[in-house]
Amino acid sequence: MLFEELSKKGTEFLGVKYPIISGGMTWISDFELVRAVAENGAFPVLAGGNMPPEIFEQEVDRCIDNLDKPFAVNLITISPNYRAQYEILLNKKVPFVVFAGSFPRKADIQGMKKSGKKTMSFASEGSIAGQQIRFGIDALILEGSEAGGHIGHVSLMVLLQQVLFNYDQVPIFVAGGIASGKMIAHLLLMGAAGCQLGTAFVMSEECTAHANFKKAFAKAHARQAISTPQYDSRLPVVAVRGIRNQGTEEFGRLQLELLKKLEAGILSREQAQYEVENFWVGALRRAVVDGDVDAGSLMAGQSVGLVRDVLPMKSIIENLVNEARAELAVVRDRLT
Ligand SMILES: Cc1cc2nc3c(=O)[nH]c(=O)nc-3n(C[C@H](O)[C@H](O)[C@H](O)COP(=O)(O)O)c2cc1C
Repeated sequence: MLFEELSKKGTEFLGVKYPIISGGMTWISDFELVRAVAENGAFPVLAGGNMPPEIFEQEVDRCIDNLDKPFAVNLITISPNYRAQYEILLNKKVPFVVFAGSFPRKADIQGMKKSGKKTMSFASEGSIAGQQIRFGIDALILEGSEAGGHIGHVSLMVLLQQVLFNYDQVPIFVAGGIASGKMIAHLLLMGAAGCQLGTAFVMSEECTAHANFKKAFAKAHARQAISTPQYDSRLPVVAVRGIRNQGTEEFGRLQLELLKKLEAGILSREQAQYEVENFWVGALRRAVVDGDVDAGSLMAGQSVGLVRDVLPMKSIIENLVNEARAELAVVRDRLT
């Protein structure tokens, strides 16, 4: 009962049974993963990544035609195909959009809202949360730096105090480092509308990522999921968290090479940043699709140290919910 009460804000907003979001993951969150999450009562997000417009439209249509449950489409505002994907999505009957990459402009949020969609975006610090709320965003995702993929600099522990405890205008979902129902229970008690998980859902049978990718996750320790450094402020790069491998080293070499080209005037800063993002899309594909877990990118959160087994999606979600319920009962006993 307590779990249902605490989940209400999130489940009413998302229109699903449990306030658990499977975060959009480029190359990973395809129709198969979306369907598995939707069928088991949680909220799925289809990844737009940098998909060419025609493929993007096909994937979106596949979800519209085959799902009778709510889902979101993830748009990466810094991806070269963003504008084309945005225009396609505008005219589709999709209930939710999640803006990722950087912070969506007011016009982009308002445009999606006018087309009947609920909008969500990431807040990586307090001032951004305030700005996105002023822009009309319907819900926020607070993602701590322990998360996998492209990340901000602030840990979830600090974001909770900075944003979750200070903003109540919109539902706030939290992400980064979550892989247990116990943690979900405590975050709901803190006022979160729900939780978004990424790494944990890679370890589902339904996830179409290469078996080598999942094996690497099963073996990895939390400390191996490191974030990439930025070598020089002349080439600002968004940090990416993943399991350390040759691909990580290769990214270091790429940065040095691009810096040299910047210095020599062969490339502009924007061109160099474009090369960086191109590198990540390609490297992630190499690991997720081709199974090259040495040279490809093994994007993963520190929560990779908390997941060991590949399980059916049904079990993953049931385990999370049962554990959350049990933990809330323990907390209630502690308080009475
Ligand atoms: C392999 C991988 C790819 C990701 N790609 C995206 C993406 O395309 N768009 C996005 O908004 N978030 C992306 N993320 C972040 C997830 O949606 C989610 O917020 C994050 O994984 C939560 O942290 P956790 O991994 O500790 O659960 C990605 C994460 C991983 C692990």
